[in-house]
Amino acid sequence: MAEIEVLQEGAVETWTINGEARRNAIGRALAAELEANVARTARDRGIRAVILTGAGEKAFCAGADLKERAGMSEDDVRQFLERLRRTLRGIEQSDAVFVAALNGAALGGGTELALACDLRVAAPHAELALTEVRLGIIPGGGGTQRLARLIGAGRAKDLILTGRRVRADEALSMGLVNRVAPVGGLIAAALELAQAISQNAPLALAAAKHAIDEGADLALEPALRLELEKYERVLKSEDRLEGLRAFAEKRPPRFQGR
Ligand code: COA
Repeated sequence: MAEIEVLQEGAVETWTINGEARRNAIGRALAAELEANVARTARDRGIRAVILTGAGEKAFCAGADLKERAGMSEDDVRQFLERLRRTLRGIEQSDAVFVAALNGAALGGGTELALACDLRVAAPHAELALTEVRLGIIPGGGGTQRLARLIGAGRAKDLILTGRRVRADEALSMGLVNRVAPVGGLIAAALELAQAISQNAPLALAAAKHAIDEGADLALEPALRLELEKYERVLKSEDRLEGLRAFAEKRPPRFQGR
């Protein structure tokens, strides 16, 4: 059975982690399939947005597969982490926009997976936590860095040093999730968001995503230059001219990603 079910609707793919019995925990097989899917997305310019979710209602992803982990050597753990870190970086570097649809608990690596996505939509009962210090480790899939960049060092320390779980409404108030969907409406809300995004010009989406991500680590002057470099690329695009034509002709634009 596939570790990830892929469903395609137009330019949007929904990837569902298919491991409800283990609460969608990430074992080696899932990590490999996730990496392969991210690589496939990088080659397929037709995919504009990816929704990442988990099977069932209990968990988006319960983090590393702790049963598998018990039988792994230190080197096995290093290799696993290396693959996961590479894959999460691949999500960030992808031109597609990734939306995490949190259908339940996102713990440890589950929250790290959500943090690598561009946007997060949560079911009202979803919970997020970086619980690693309770297990004698620290977040190893980028959680210390991405969480602090997203919500600030103070809030990140509150969550990481306590390991406490944050419910969807608190996560929304601290900017850890972007939206909370109505009860039973998670996938519809994530799809609506992903489809709205995928109507926009593909080169502009990629340029805006990378300008925000790459600029976040720079001082303001180089960050503004970076924005201008990204702008230069869309300035030369056919889609920019199509946007102007569509506006003048009062019709929706037909973007080609050129
Ligand atoms: N790795 C492997 N198996 C896991 C798992 C994980 N991270 N999390 C849950 N499971 C398994 C349980 O062992 C159980 O298996 P069993 O049926 O063989 O006993 C099954 O999933 C269901 O777990 P259960 O705790 O009964 O489900 P729940 O719906 O009540 O709670 C969670 C779900 C995710 C909230 C809870 O399982 C949990 O807190 N898991 C620990 C996650 C964690 O600390 N992750 C951080 C890793 S750094």
